[in-house]
Amino acid sequence: MAEGFTLLLSGMLLCGLLLHMVSQHGVDKLSKKPNFIIILADDIGWGDLDANQPEERANNTPHLNLMAQQGLRLTDFHSPASTCSPSRAAILTGRYGLRNGVTHNFAVGSVAGLPLSEVTLPQLLQKAGYYTAMVGKWHLGHNGQYGPTKRGFDYYLGIPYSNDMGCTDTPGYNLPQCFPCDSSGPQVIRLKRRVHGGCYSKVGLPLIENSSIVEQPLDLWTLTEQYKSAALRIIHNAKEREQPYLLYIALAHMHVPLAPPLPPDALSHRLHDGRVYAASLREMDSLVGAVKSASDDANTLIWFTGDNGPWEQKCQYAGSVGPFKGTWQSSRGGGSAKRTTWEGGHRVPTVAYWPGVIHANTTSAALLSGMDIFPTLLSLAGVTPPSDRRYDGIDATNVLLRGEQTGHKFLFHPNSGAAGKFGDLQAVRTGKYKAFYITGAAEACGGSTGTQQLHDPPLIFDLERDEAEETPIEAGTPEYQTAADKIARRREELLWDIATDTSVSASDYTTDESAAPCCDPTQAVCRCRTLG
Ligand SMILES: *[C@@H]1O[C@H](CO)[C@@H](O)[C@H](O)[C@H]1NC(C)=O
Ligand SMILES: *[C@@H]1O[C@H](CO)[C@@H](O)[C@H](O)[C@H]1NC(C)=O
Repeated sequence: MAEGFTLLLSGMLLCGLLLHMVSQHGVDKLSKKPNFIIILADDIGWGDLDANQPEERANNTPHLNLMAQQGLRLTDFHSPASTCSPSRAAILTGRYGLRNGVTHNFAVGSVAGLPLSEVTLPQLLQKAGYYTAMVGKWHLGHNGQYGPTKRGFDYYLGIPYSNDMGCTDTPGYNLPQCFPCDSSGPQVIRLKRRVHGGCYSKVGLPLIENSSIVEQPLDLWTLTEQYKSAALRIIHNAKEREQPYLLYIALAHMHVPLAPPLPPDALSHRLHDGRVYAASLREMDSLVGAVKSASDDANTLIWFTGDNGPWEQKCQYAGSVGPFKGTWQSSRGGGSAKRTTWEGGHRVPTVAYWPGVIHANTTSAALLSGMDIFPTLLSLAGVTPPSDRRYDGIDATNVLLRGEQTGHKFLFHPNSGAAGKFGDLQAVRTGKYKAFYITGAAEACGGSTGTQQLHDPPLIFDLERDEAEETPIEAGTPEYQTAADKIARRREELLWDIATDTSVSASDYTTDESAAPCCDPTQAVCRCRTLG
């Protein structure tokens, strides 16, 4: 009797469950806490994603193209800053650098990092029952309390800063400012002297697991494989435990030095054409494909984007800005991508993919930012962010899931190193208009640099007519005046809002040699033997 009842009951339950699944597939997925994978590429260009420029027929990103075809391609998505640390800080806090305190990059010897007063996305998801893991480049401070496992991640594997912030004897594909290490000298000093017949081909970077160095110097050619197996293991284990997870993969790709899988005879410094970059791009893409396959069956949102535009100064080792050439600047000298507020500096290739929830084969031109990842993921997880602070990111759930086409009414682009004061809000987007109060350039391929220029009244471009930012709208025309008034008012409001924000954090950018990660203090930092 009891047995029969149980059977009947489970039969009814099963029936109901099946009905529910069939009729409300997407909704059902939402009611269960979804998994999140953020994949952040380094220095990638908007034009590097084939799907953004099909006419180029490049075929370097087949897996990402497929992800776009099965998901949503965001064409007007912007990194929150045009350089590494500020962009990552804003992604993980949902706030502009002027609020979270991170306005420029941390160094190998930085004693601090993202201010401890800031609350991070993994911290909040961890508290909500998520397993939180990170693989890749952190660059928000590695010393003491500033490492990823102290800022909300249960697990970490990666390099604490950029892959060109260590030295080697064999520079390979552009280890630009890295000079051979001096094993007799003090730690982290890069000698401006070239020693021939070097000691090894590895790079003096530490690979860190949780908060311990597990490899130093690092073999850059095995890094992709290490990242891949860690990511797949994290996905697999979380699935086994049936625990929702956040996996943040901050790739070394496409930042120089590139370490592409090429046939051995091609691994020569003489190979100075586009093949090196393309091979690295394909390697990155296949890593994305592996992550996608591993997570495909388990209610997972993958959000692929970039931390800033390509590093133009690196010439054939830099990515493509696509049509966003920043011509007003480049025709006056200087680069108009990474480290600048021209579109090439912050408009990044972005794909959101969530089978059965995000509509397949869709595109949105909503104006969005990497800062929106924070409120959007929290909203999808049913988590309310702390109310004791002000946020700049917006919840983009309706853009992702319901085809809404509007994002930010105003989006500010901070100075990231080309001109003026770090973090200053130099350019503003509203609708199709972009206004510059200050222009500046980064170093271009070939070495030209531009000078900072103040613009009062601001330069205003119409990005619909002029995506290359070549010719500003004539000042004084009614079109100009309407846009300028709106932008000026909003800019004043935001500056006032930040000036009166008691939750603003201050960053400590002090450096000290002792803060540099080293596995063996008796040796120069880049000469440590591999541990464990
Ligand atoms: C890192 O933490 C994981 C558990 O989350 C553990 O299995 C692993 O051994 C740790 N690694 C190191 C080097 O401490
Ligand atoms: C995707 O959409 C485009 C047009 O928007 C269409 O040409 C193409 O066939 C679609 N692809 C798939 C696989 O549905």
